[in-house]
Amino acid sequence: MGVERLDRLLARLGLGSRKEVGRLIRRGQVRVGGAVVLDPGFKVGEGALLEVEGKPIRAFRHLHVLLHKPGGYVTSRTEGPSVYALLQGFPTRDLSPVGRLDKDTEGLLLFTTHGELLHRLTHPRHKVEKRYLVHLERPATPEDQRAFQEGLLLEGERLLPAKLVLGEDPTRVELVLKEGRYHQVKRMFAQRGNRVLYLKRLALGPLELGDLPVGAARALSPEEAAALYQAVGLGGKNP
Ligand code: URA
Repeated sequence: MGVERLDRLLARLGLGSRKEVGRLIRRGQVRVGGAVVLDPGFKVGEGALLEVEGKPIRAFRHLHVLLHKPGGYVTSRTEGPSVYALLQGFPTRDLSPVGRLDKDTEGLLLFTTHGELLHRLTHPRHKVEKRYLVHLERPATPEDQRAFQEGLLLEGERLLPAKLVLGEDPTRVELVLKEGRYHQVKRMFAQRGNRVLYLKRLALGPLELGDLPVGAARALSPEEAAALYQAVGLGGKNP
């Protein structure tokens, strides 16, 4: 997995000789992940976002960005308010969303420049888990749990088994899906005679939303990117 000295990386990307880029770095003209780095020997990880003299550049071939999507934003380039407005500083032209969240859904939305990764993460064959927090109008029941586990028949299509986790308050549950169909969570509960009042995605495969503030975006760490590749059988391949 790529980790490289900052001065070597910038020279390799054609920004000047090692000596020249070393000067740029020491003058405070280079940021890594938003923070000024003054040490030419600083180790940069895969997917790090670099800025040189105020201009963003991509350190490696692929970049993966995790956004804590707020409600009210559309997963679209053309309709607004667009989630892309929240990715300022990232090379938005090259980033595609991994699936979509509804306008009123919050939580983890991943963007990537990697077409094959995107395809694998969204294809049901790879059964990448998506974990949601769901607030419901009425309490969920053990019968809902069984029905979801067996694979709900939704408008003539059999869904993959889904795990419903009932806690202390059965109107606040977690649901783990292995596919991502249109409005799937809302339609599953509607079929059970219930209604989703609030929906938030907490996790996608090995990625967790964690304490990323609402509306904030960050590049994946090299460890997160490696775990993601692993989850879809791209482990060991050069990202
Ligand atoms: N299921 C839904 O119904 N909506 C989403 O945004 C995501 C999953």
